[in-house]
Amino acid sequence: MRPTPRESSPRRYLMCPPAHFTVTYSINPWMDPTKPVDLPLALAQWEDLRDRYLSLGHTVELLDPDPALPDMVFAANGATVVGGRVLGARFAHPERTAEADAHLAWFRRNGWAEEDLWIPEHVNEGEGDFAVTASWILAGTGFRSSPLSHGEAQEFFGRPVIGLELVDPRYYHLDTALCVLDEAGDEIMYYPGAFSPGSRAVLARLFPGALLATEEDAAALGLNAVSDGRHVLLPQTATGLLAPLRARGFEPVGMDLGELLKGGGSVKCCTQELRP
Ligand code: ARG
Repeated sequence: MRPTPRESSPRRYLMCPPAHFTVTYSINPWMDPTKPVDLPLALAQWEDLRDRYLSLGHTVELLDPDPALPDMVFAANGATVVGGRVLGARFAHPERTAEADAHLAWFRRNGWAEEDLWIPEHVNEGEGDFAVTASWILAGTGFRSSPLSHGEAQEFFGRPVIGLELVDPRYYHLDTALCVLDEAGDEIMYYPGAFSPGSRAVLARLFPGALLATEEDAAALGLNAVSDGRHVLLPQTATGLLAPLRARGFEPVGMDLGELLKGGGSVKCCTQELRP
């Protein structure tokens, strides 16, 4: 039986072109500064992603790239926006510290009121470690965001935050190991091997019907995906996810972000969602 197709809803995304993307330092196992980056190719791949969002009817806002911040293309890390309120980021590594202010400045310039912005006390790397469903905010820790940031997010957003411990350095951010497919229905996909036994048990309890990714698809960064409720944009090499996504009524859209993978990021890392 064919599943009923899902409905997408229009989204607003914040992205930053990889105009100054390079790998000159290494803060995750994917980054090898001896491997050259093809900048024109990185730009073309990023433009494909942006154009795909536009053609699906989504809005894409742009952040100005800063030549001193080569990881700025990974816009998901710069803040978390839920219900129009912005929890700013605070980066774990000094190489990325200044990105947090660039994001806050963007929100201020684009009409956000001061009372809707929160400058965090504890380290959190935005949507790298926060994932939003209707019932919960899922929050990663272990490599980047501090567990103390979970309480801070819960207090600011007034939503229950579920802390999840990441244990494999290749999956250093929650969004490398888990993706929300349908917020309204609390539907996710994830790679169990990236989580501690306790966190795996929590995920199994909250999401008994979740799509479980294989090690192979996780290693292709297949979970670093963005769903609009119907279309799931994901790295094209994560081919094992295509059939299970389709079986659930989603329409997977494979993207080639091979150059950005050299920085340890893919579709989701490049995309911050501005939730109204
Ligand atoms: N090089 C960046 C870092 O290690 C990649 C960030 C990827 N972003 C993400 N949302 N996972 O911080």
